[in-house]
Amino acid sequence: MGETGRVADFLRKSVLFQNLSDSELRKISLNFEIIDLPMGEVLFYEKDTSDDMYLVLEGKVRASLFDEHGNELVLAELGPGEFLGEMSMIDQLPRSATVLAQENTRLAVLRRETFLKILRENPDIAINVIKALVARLRRTDDMVEALAFRNVESRIVKFLLEVGKEKGNMEKGRFRVRKMTHRDLAARVGSSREAVTKALKALSFKGIIEDSGNFWLISPSAEDHIDP
Ligand code: CMP
Repeated sequence: MGETGRVADFLRKSVLFQNLSDSELRKISLNFEIIDLPMGEVLFYEKDTSDDMYLVLEGKVRASLFDEHGNELVLAELGPGEFLGEMSMIDQLPRSATVLAQENTRLAVLRRETFLKILRENPDIAINVIKALVARLRRTDDMVEALAFRNVESRIVKFLLEVGKEKGNMEKGRFRVRKMTHRDLAARVGSSREAVTKALKALSFKGIIEDSGNFWLISPSAEDHIDP
């Protein structure tokens, strides 16, 4: 199968393009350019002024905000079938976040004018974009709620339970979550490395999280045992 066929095949599975016919998909695939982004590389920085849109074909990227000390807050991780760069594509304002490759990633790039033309000709795709944006807004509301109303211990527990549920690995009736550095965990729960180190010690002391080599073990009911 050629690159166009592979992209068309992929588009069929993506949330945005699933309602289109085969011939429409093939026509649209001709407009994509494929790029590879090695793990750790930045696609663009917050405040950059580009306006292309991207679809993740393989791998994973994350959209993050950084403060002046280099502390990171991860807004979203985006994997195969998901799109990014739509905000600047739509409003032509600077990029709202820095996007970098979390794994070796293959992306399909779509120029602004081309995507706008596709949206005008296919209202179903515009509706799918709106649905995906609403889903992101809901997730972001969840994150804002956690940052405003929960302490660091509670945010760590919430995050580890989400990862545990997603991966589904169990040990002794508890979720088994691969450890990450305290800095990376801080970027996911909107905290500092120091505060995360302190909170992990407290959670371990209270028996809510157990250390198991390269993993943390956490009970599915852990959220019931801590103050928000
Ligand atoms: P854009 O602003 O063009 O560039 C950064 C991208 O990160 C943005 O488009 C979105 O694709 C993505 N992004 C920014 N904020 C969020 C969020 N809260 N949830 C999911 N993705 C986001």
